[in-house]
Amino acid sequence: MSNYNNYLQEAVSAARIAGQYQKSRLASSLSIEMKGDKNLVTEVDKESERLIVEHLLSSFPDHDIIAEEGDYLQRGSSCRWIIDPVDGTTNYAHGYPWFCTSIGLELEGELVAGVIYNPVYDELFTATKGGGAYLNGSKLSVSASNHLNNSLLGTGFPYDCATDPANNFANFIAFQKGARGIRRAGAAALDLAYVAAGRLDGFWELKLKAWDVAAGVLLVREAGGVVTTFDGSAYDIFNDKIVASNGQIHNEMVEMLASAASGPAGSNQ
Ligand code: IPD
Ligand code: CA
Ligand code: CA
Repeated sequence: MSNYNNYLQEAVSAARIAGQYQKSRLASSLSIEMKGDKNLVTEVDKESERLIVEHLLSSFPDHDIIAEEGDYLQRGSSCRWIIDPVDGTTNYAHGYPWFCTSIGLELEGELVAGVIYNPVYDELFTATKGGGAYLNGSKLSVSASNHLNNSLLGTGFPYDCATDPANNFANFIAFQKGARGIRRAGAAALDLAYVAAGRLDGFWELKLKAWDVAAGVLLVREAGGVVTTFDGSAYDIFNDKIVASNGQIHNEMVEMLASAASGPAGSNQ
């Protein structure tokens, strides 16, 4: 049993509490506010975050919190929870049942525990540093695909893709030509969990935030995958470009991103 198991168990409880609430409100009438042109937030995002933070702080009152919908006092704790209460908010707001809760824990700046919960499928993805990655208790490992042309990839687009040229469009075209297929499902944390589970062979995206990726990055690494920035260099969760894969197709993905960046529409990164 891993050293981080007590933290993981509380994160699992918090994610299940939030997930049950999200399911109960799915496709109901929701109060929605706009954070930007396309970027919205629902009352369920806010209440989910409140439930998660309340649960974690009741167990760990001295820990720090970073979460998408609120600002929390930073106490300088060595433990910091990084929370996306609803990843896939656009889906959720439309009653499209593809979303999750993502909760990661850093200890002295290192990811040590992660939980991603899809309440609609009742799929709980968990990982602890050095302890492996699991789906509902069964050990996960990344896929064995060894070429881009037989790989299924995930990606997404930033909310400001209509106004900022760093929009991922040229990368998308390049991968759509070079890979077997691409899915833009709308929840980056689940995309990463799916790489860990071997359901996707790779994932890339830009302009993600730490709460989108914290749990998923640990899941991919613990399932035997590789996570870097677009140029193949070391990644941390505050980088705004991420490539995650089964490892076998990683170089091909990095090369594809480099050639898309130098092509005619190369400003898309
Ligand atoms: C978004 C989702 C989406 C990704 C966006 C994220 P949110 O998170 O993960 O897949 O493409 O860039 O911001 O807003 O639903 O929490
Ligand atoms: Ca998110
Ligand atoms: Ca969110």
